[in-house]
Amino acid sequence: MGIGAFGIDLGSSNIKIYNGFEDTYFMEKNMIAIEGQDTLYAYGDSAFDMYEKAPDNIQVSFPVNMGVILDPRNMNTLIHYFISDQCKGNLHAADYYIAVPTDVTPVDRRAFRNLIRDSNVKARRVYTVEKAIADGLGMDIDVKTSQGVLVVDVGYDTTEISLLSLGGIVYSRLIKTGGQKFDEAIKAAVRKEYGLLIGSKTSEKLKIAVREVESQKRNAVVYGRHIVSGLPVEKEIATELINDSLEEDFAVIMANIRQVLEHTPPELGADIYRHGIYLSGGACQTGKLAAKISKDTGLKVNINTEPIASVIKGLSTIIREERFSSLASYVELNKK
Ligand SMILES: Nc1ncnc2c1ncn2[C@@H]1O[C@H](COP(=O)(O)OP(=O)(O)OP(=O)(O)O)[C@@H](O)[C@H]1O
Ligand SMILES: [Mg+2]
Repeated sequence: MGIGAFGIDLGSSNIKIYNGFEDTYFMEKNMIAIEGQDTLYAYGDSAFDMYEKAPDNIQVSFPVNMGVILDPRNMNTLIHYFISDQCKGNLHAADYYIAVPTDVTPVDRRAFRNLIRDSNVKARRVYTVEKAIADGLGMDIDVKTSQGVLVVDVGYDTTEISLLSLGGIVYSRLIKTGGQKFDEAIKAAVRKEYGLLIGSKTSEKLKIAVREVESQKRNAVVYGRHIVSGLPVEKEIATELINDSLEEDFAVIMANIRQVLEHTPPELGADIYRHGIYLSGGACQTGKLAAKISKDTGLKVNINTEPIASVIKGLSTIIREERFSSLASYVELNKK
């Protein structure tokens, strides 16, 4: 028997859950499909399969938007079903550790704290953990003793830039850009250059494939609908076009990193200089983003093997290792 606790990283696109009973974690689309007024039709990856394809009576949506819980009711339903699945229908009493972004309003923080109370999952105790702290720990940084760690988490619709020191957050900034913006930029460029309409899933595939396709010195091939003829066509897309289309969004991220560096107290700068910048979140792997950050700052850039999972790995470390328990804050459950 493992540890009676779950860790949850509520992404705007992907929910990641650590199951302490089995010492495993999984990831699914943080998405729900509701039929009619309020009948659950599908959730997780199977709801995502219907996205942009479902008939009008089925509403498919992401309850977390821009890093915060926009739709608590549907988020509670999702948590209930994901956790029930983990418990094979027989809910176990468990502790919960929830990663919360730092740079959000008090109302948004409260929504994270209340999430488990309202999800009907036999919660014993609930804790919150600053997301950037879990992120750093998940990248094997000893966040409790390091002074001056810069973590940039490029997610789906947010990028969180955080400066950590001695187990706390010195400064954190949540900006509204990420993988989704990259997909939109690619979509717009393909439309403008080739008169071709492509869906979000296709532009996401282009974004993920661009590095590999480029290294093979070939073009990417996509299917879309021609704006003028209205007919489906296959088209080769130059990798240069994709890279160029991403530059504007990369520049926004870079400008924010620069501002955070400018706000960094000099005593912490030395460690950042020594260790470099840590990138995480699924979309940090996009095209030439890491190379650009490294070139523009003159700093080394570190990316772990599984950047999409670093927050959930960090939560699992806090759950498993006693010496990190001080990084979690206890939540009074009965407070409304
Ligand atoms: N290999 C890859 N290359 C580029 N982008 C990728 C890759 N793998 C995943 N992504 C992108 O990462 C994004 C999802 O990352 P992640 O799960 O970290 O976001 P999230 O936690 O759901 O969002 P947020 O943190 O903004 O709330 C998607 O936009 C996806 O297209
Ligand atoms: Mg995330």
